[in-house]
Amino acid sequence: MQPSTKIYSDPVALVAAFAADFASWVESQPNVKLTVALSGGSTPKRLFELWAEQYASSIDWARLHFFWGDERCVAPDDAESNYGVAKALLFDHITIPETNIHRIRGEASPSDEAARYEQEIVEFAESIDGVAQFDLIILGMGDDGHTASIFPHQIEFLKSPRVCEVATHPQSGQQRITLTGPVINAAKKINFLVTGASKAEVLADVIGQTGAFETYPASAITGDKVCFYLDEPAAAKLSSLT
Ligand code: 6PG
Repeated sequence: MQPSTKIYSDPVALVAAFAADFASWVESQPNVKLTVALSGGSTPKRLFELWAEQYASSIDWARLHFFWGDERCVAPDDAESNYGVAKALLFDHITIPETNIHRIRGEASPSDEAARYEQEIVEFAESIDGVAQFDLIILGMGDDGHTASIFPHQIEFLKSPRVCEVATHPQSGQQRITLTGPVINAAKKINFLVTGASKAEVLADVIGQTGAFETYPASAITGDKVCFYLDEPAAAKLSSLT
């Protein structure tokens, strides 16, 4: 089955719709404890701000356990830290137990932290066929088709037997910890949030499984559990068939 797509006029409309869908999803879930892996980068910042402004009291945050799909190997107070951004824009503005925040320790040795975070996930999350299973994974997509921190030059991480790998950003060389392809694909629900015209060409190949899609890691995250939340500029090259 193909992933689904939801297209909105701009990032503000996209985030408003996603936040409403997310709130309904939380309500609809029978499990008391829900595991949600957040993405990094700039797109989720609007979501965190909206959650803090409009959903602080309407979502039962204590039911949610937040993990990350990837993290930069930097200190938590570094501007690059995905955890640091989420703390400043969301966690500092809602009531959520500290123990519900399962951050990746970017300040630690990358290989040690990959092993530690993997163990934390294995111990905490459910699993399916021996693979850790999140209730929801929120992802972005880079202009090069990367997702989480699985970049084209390390596409083998899509098939890694591990829960986490230590990745390297292709331009900056920055080390990162990333979830691997099997864990991402095992999630019960996977939502991409993708905005901007710069992603339109690659996104069309990722969703359409056309052109050089096999070189784009995001194209391996597929199936009917996947929904792409897109703004019109990012969706501009999608064929009418999708
Ligand atoms: C990260 C992300 C990464 C991000 C994409 C899109 O840590 O940077 O997890 O995968 O989602 O690069 O980033 P933007 O939302 O900034 O376009």
